[in-house]
Amino acid sequence: MDTLIPPTIDVHLTSGDLRAAMEADVRAGLTATPKQLPPVYFYDDRGSRLFDQITRLPEYYPTRAERSILEAHAGDMVRAAGADVLVELGAGTCDKSRVLLDAMRDNGCLHAYVPLDVSDTTLWEAATSLSESYPGLSVRAVVGDFHHHLDRLDAPGRRLFAFLGGTIGNFDPAQRAAFLSGLVEVMCPGDRFLLGTDVVKDRGRLVAAYDDAAGVTAEFNRNVLHVLNRELGADFVPARFAHVARWNERDHRIEMWLRSLDTCTVHVADLGLDVGFGAGEEMLTEISTKFSLDALGDELEACGLVVDASWVADDDEFVLTMARRP
Ligand code: SAH
Ligand code: TRP
Repeated sequence: MDTLIPPTIDVHLTSGDLRAAMEADVRAGLTATPKQLPPVYFYDDRGSRLFDQITRLPEYYPTRAERSILEAHAGDMVRAAGADVLVELGAGTCDKSRVLLDAMRDNGCLHAYVPLDVSDTTLWEAATSLSESYPGLSVRAVVGDFHHHLDRLDAPGRRLFAFLGGTIGNFDPAQRAAFLSGLVEVMCPGDRFLLGTDVVKDRGRLVAAYDDAAGVTAEFNRNVLHVLNRELGADFVPARFAHVARWNERDHRIEMWLRSLDTCTVHVADLGLDVGFGAGEEMLTEISTKFSLDALGDELEACGLVVDASWVADDDEFVLTMARRP
């Protein structure tokens, strides 16, 4: 394994597709009660950079916890999976993927890496840097949506589908069920699924992870307003929306909201839409569900997966679960 193979990129989501989806989502979300926006629009270039900063914040424990599990157990994971292709959903900067790729290489079974993300520039930069770090590795980046394009990830060999970062917690229960059942459908008998999920814990720690002292998460949350201003000609004044992170005990999830500080009317030029906000009115921008180990196993099995193993961080603060189709 020593020739440098240039990465390739398959685009299943063009800027035209994204725009049409954004128009429909924003119209529906801003006219709903309460108002809400889907999280996928956080991740333009600036949003991806802000998220990368979040992963390094002292309060944001999930990235470090997940990385520590990977560093301790990646060898066991890749031996259990027996895969030679790593497929990663919502890969972002592909940072933690290197721990899995190293373990696959050490196990003598690293053939291809297929990262999927909506954020094309971030994905391309990561793919380029990875193919330089792993001579002989075929890197095939896929620009797509993990709610729609799981069937575009074919690769010769046994695939390990990794879905890290607790991103599945950003789905509501119906989206989780649809995603997991869709994944089972595209998995071949030898394929494996490695899922990273955050765990219910002390509420103070949970809230702090989504409301850091430096205000990076607040800026990330408001970034969606900058995106709508730029892409749809909206006239949100981001500084007049406060970041709110709240623990929802009933649904065991952190919710991120943007609270309008004033009464205002936002004009969304490209939609021909005027939207009124009351002073103090809140708009839901993200959920981050936290799991218990038992409930997680039950949910995976209810969607047709069989759980093979799981690994937790020292203090049970995060869990990685390996599953397969029956
Ligand atoms: N896996 C990385 C990044 C997690 S952040 C980590 O563990 O740190 C979530 C990632 O999912 C971002 O890179 C974002 O661009 C991507 N993403 C968000 N919505 C998506 C969608 N609908 N389809 C594909 N990728 C998406
Ligand atoms: N997948 C991450 C999580 O749920 C995403 C995330 C972290 C996030 N911090 C955020 C999303 C702040 C919106 C706002 O932990």
